Amino acid sequence: MSTKSDVLFLLKKQQNKFVSGQQIADVLKLSRTSIWKAIKALEEDGYLISAVRNLGYRLRESADIMTKDDVLSFLDKEKRPPDIRVLKTVDSTNDYAKKLALCGEPNGSLVLAEEQTSGRGRNGKSFYSPEKTGLYMSVLLRPDRNDSGVHLLTLAAAVAVCETIEKLYALRPRIKWVNDIYLNGKKICGILSEAGIDLESGGIEYVVIGIGINCTTTDAAFPEELRGKAGSIGIIGISRCELAAGIYERITEMFGRLGEKSLIERYRELSIVQGKEIDFLYEGIETRAVVNGINDDGSLSVRLKGGTNIFLLGGEISLIGELDYIKAGNAI
Ligand code: BTN
Repeated sequence: MSTKSDVLFLLKKQQNKFVSGQQIADVLKLSRTSIWKAIKALEEDGYLISAVRNLGYRLRESADIMTKDDVLSFLDKEKRPPDIRVLKTVDSTNDYAKKLALCGEPNGSLVLAEEQTSGRGRNGKSFYSPEKTGLYMSVLLRPDRNDSGVHLLTLAAAVAVCETIEKLYALRPRIKWVNDIYLNGKKICGILSEAGIDLESGGIEYVVIGIGINCTTTDAAFPEELRGKAGSIGIIGISRCELAAGIYERITEMFGRLGEKSLIERYRELSIVQGKEIDFLYEGIETRAVVNGINDDGSLSVRLKGGTNIFLLGGEISLIGELDYIKAGNAI
């Protein structure tokens, strides 16, 4: 996409080793002057690059900087988003992505922000989105009008988050229906999917999948009301760009295969609710039930106290008692 991201990609591949300007220029089929300019631009973004005569350039350990080029450097060319925005601050990446959608932004576009000033959660809740320690991303998707599997997109996003965290950090986060991600008994990620309807046809015009992950937020840094409930991935040296790229790649991959049974099967494997006792609001009344399982359409099959089985299509459930299952065995 840009010389900067290509140069960054090559420097990263050779981390801690020098690569000569000529070598980079040969690989990218560009002049040494353009490579030099890209290096300067990367330095302006905050990357620490050693430049030594006769040896070339070397990328030093750098802070977790969020830039477009960094995200792109983790994605193969053909898997890169058609457009990517990395914002220093924004009210909500979902709101930003929805505005882009209305302006005709293409399928697969990605919005990321260092911080959100009005991050939104489900059911009108806010999502705590401090700078530097979290990942806030929204993916804009334009489903095929006849795609009957669109409602499974939220589930696909939850699977994508779990699998990417497992792959990158050898941790085993798990899903609490519908799409909260837990690690060590605490919620580390929330997902908010929103759709835009074409008023004429009544069909879905676009879907925005918003994902918020606490990467390194410490317990003390969470607001009082979240303390003890919200957690973080907590790995030192997380690259939020690598995490965002990994999740993006997995979501867009699954987007093309929403109808396949393997998605819901994988979701069930990663889910922690089967067989558990839950509380939820049913017709306005706090109700207790036991989870029978997750249906193929993503709805939750539960058994009420009297023995009646009902399906929940959405909403919030609370697991009764300690989240022992999630607390157990995080490291592989
Ligand atoms: C929840 O836990 O209820 C869902 C939280 C979703 C938060 C993400 S952060 C990126 C995107 N922008 C928002 O305003 N919300 C989502």
